[in-house]
Amino acid sequence: MKLAVLGAGAVGRSVAELAGEYGHEVTALADSSSAVVDDGGVDVAAALERKDAGESLGDAEPRDALVGEYDALVEATPTTLGDAEPGFSHLRTALERDKHVVLANKGPVAERYADVRELEAESDGDVYFEATVGGAIPVCATVDDLGAKHVSAVRGILNGTANFVLSRMAAEGLDYDHVLAEAQDLGVAEADPSFDVEGTDAALKCVIVANVLREADCDSLDDLREAEVTLADAEVEGIRNIPGSALELAAEDGRTVRLVGEATRERVSVGPRLVPEHGTLAVTGTRNIVEIDHEYAGNLAISGRGAGGEETASAVLADVARLE
Ligand code: HSE
Repeated sequence: MKLAVLGAGAVGRSVAELAGEYGHEVTALADSSSAVVDDGGVDVAAALERKDAGESLGDAEPRDALVGEYDALVEATPTTLGDAEPGFSHLRTALERDKHVVLANKGPVAERYADVRELEAESDGDVYFEATVGGAIPVCATVDDLGAKHVSAVRGILNGTANFVLSRMAAEGLDYDHVLAEAQDLGVAEADPSFDVEGTDAALKCVIVANVLREADCDSLDDLREAEVTLADAEVEGIRNIPGSALELAAEDGRTVRLVGEATRERVSVGPRLVPEHGTLAVTGTRNIVEIDHEYAGNLAISGRGAGGEETASAVLADVARLE
């Protein structure tokens, strides 16, 4: 497949690097705002060194990339809230041209799920978004494979930054500010980690899963418009105010604290929860884990890397394979 990649951050660049290994060709790599690649200091030649074609990519304008030659748009620009722009417009332009869209950007499916499905229904292109939830972990695909109608809940650790902070606090008896600063030094946490530590990032992922669950019960687009959820419907609490003493107290009782997100048909919630210290959800470091409750299959768990350029790119490229 020919891929146009919008978003030249870690995920977009990794898609460009790995596409050749998956048998695809990247025809454009563009930042969301401009001719990024030079601005961001990205060495496009290096980013594409595993790609057979020798042409120089990465200096494309988003507009040129969108109207150029490609089979699927990989939308990997930063997630925005509210109207999910500019990601949503990128998706619309591609679908109006009957191209497929693979999202790494959570915005369109967290904030405008029914709009995305409406545009998809009017297009010959399809939309996939595995990379938006849990990085390398196949969450949406597994829910789909199991039959979303029979899945009652999806819960787990869906933010590596928050999990790193909580698990270090618990293991080392350190306080929040200390561990967050350490995480920033290590490059685990962003310079502005608000989305992660306030629970927003995990909530967006749960909202997307809730939309997948609710869609399974809908017979029409009108039903889906009624059923869709957005971030505004989620109950969200972050980890900023957790004192080290709370973790010590929990440990005395064989428990620890994790930022747990849960999506059911009725409710989307993210918040610090007490979990058994050696239980399934007590993963450490930046690891993510997802549990799926299924009517007949029972409880399944999948754990893996929930972030990272190559890890998330692997989910993007798995979606590209679903298009073929
Ligand atoms: N920043 C997220 C995390 C990954 O720390 O898990 C992107 O959603």
